Amino acid sequence: MLTVPTGPLVIPAAPPVTPGSFSPGSGEVFFSLVIPTYNESQNITSLVTILSQLLEGTLGDRYELIVVDDDSPDQTWAIAESLRAQYPHLRVMRRQGEKGLSTAVIRGWQVAQGEILGVIDGDLQHPPETLLQLLKAVQAGVDLAVASRHVSGGGVSTWSLTRRILSRGAQLVGLVLLPDVVSRVSDPMSGYFMVRREAIAERPLSPLGYKILIEVLGRGNIDEVAEVGYVFQERQEGESKVTWRQYLDYLHHLLRLRVALGRLGRIRRHLQFPMGRFLRFGMVGASGVFVDMGILYLLYDVFELRLTRSAIIAAEFAIINNFIWNDRWTFGDIAREQQAWRQIAKRFLKFNIVCLMGLVLKVLLLNLLFNVFGINAYLANLLAIAAVTVWNFWINLKLNWRVTQLK
Ligand code: GDD
Ligand code: MN
Repeated sequence: MLTVPTGPLVIPAAPPVTPGSFSPGSGEVFFSLVIPTYNESQNITSLVTILSQLLEGTLGDRYELIVVDDDSPDQTWAIAESLRAQYPHLRVMRRQGEKGLSTAVIRGWQVAQGEILGVIDGDLQHPPETLLQLLKAVQAGVDLAVASRHVSGGGVSTWSLTRRILSRGAQLVGLVLLPDVVSRVSDPMSGYFMVRREAIAERPLSPLGYKILIEVLGRGNIDEVAEVGYVFQERQEGESKVTWRQYLDYLHHLLRLRVALGRLGRIRRHLQFPMGRFLRFGMVGASGVFVDMGILYLLYDVFELRLTRSAIIAAEFAIINNFIWNDRWTFGDIAREQQAWRQIAKRFLKFNIVCLMGLVLKVLLLNLLFNVFGINAYLANLLAIAAVTVWNFWINLKLNWRVTQLK
């Protein structure tokens, strides 16, 4: 079993020399393929069998397969380990501390011997034969070869409309937030690709969630890119690990890269801006809008209260909603340490005050933008909302859910 690398997610410029690692009979390893797995016990054997056959036919001894399993309850790691007797090119890593698809891939690449580093899903949804075309492309000299669903020969087998829209929606968001990176390939969501070691070596990587390709494109030194079409197969065995969480991680990942690659980077490093918390805070704020609207409808339309009175009560309900979510989720790690009810009540009171100040600020700002700068009222309102969200977040972070706490 391979030892899991610790420390920063950096790929060494030269293959690491580790005692006991696979030493090929003839020449050096050219290609290292990482297979990230979580509960793929029903797929791993056939995948390793097919890949070994395929790669042996083209590369002989100059390849290795690296399974990186996150301590699957179904013992994928044990099954993979047992296959090594039959497949000497296979190496297995069982991670017990860290979790997550993207970091699994990098941990695998960190121990890889090859000059070309690749990744393929462990569930047979990526057709193995495409590997040969990808290899051909990197042998011809490109820095990155991506298997794509969106070039000729590519597609998705029987995806529902919703799924297609979600996938394309995610790509669209990426194009808006990070155009230089996301627009470089037709399928930035692909988790099936190969990259030249030297293009990503010695650069600290910091991926989040599923989309490792975005990280490689964003932080690597990638000049030439090739794409090869493939049809994303339906899963036959096991199940997908995608939850709504991956969408949030993806958004967070895009913003993190945006900030790291742009001018904002300097400001952020200066302020230590906690982007993940801010995103959660923003989502909670959006949920508050629905609560506000719902209560307003109930009071004003159903119970026929006066509008001002209804609006004030509705706003307070939204504040309560937001407080609960922020206290349990956005700042949950901090709040858990301070659970006496007086401490909770104090936080709630402070939250109310900050929101009230935010409201005053919003009205002032809206007037300033509209009356003094002559900005369209709706645009002015949107800008004011954005500014007040930042205000609410920052003040609550610094004065309410304090990161520094006295024992
Ligand atoms: N080690 C590890 N840790 N592996 C993981 C984890 C994890 O936390 N989560 C998922 N995996 C493995 C799965 O076992 C599988 O081999 C692969 O990563 C992909 O996971 P799926 O859950 O099957 O993903 P998918 O099929 O919905 O998503 C795929 O969609 C893209 C196309 O839209 C991704 O795998 C992309 O690679 C792919 O291109
Ligand atoms: Mn899958």
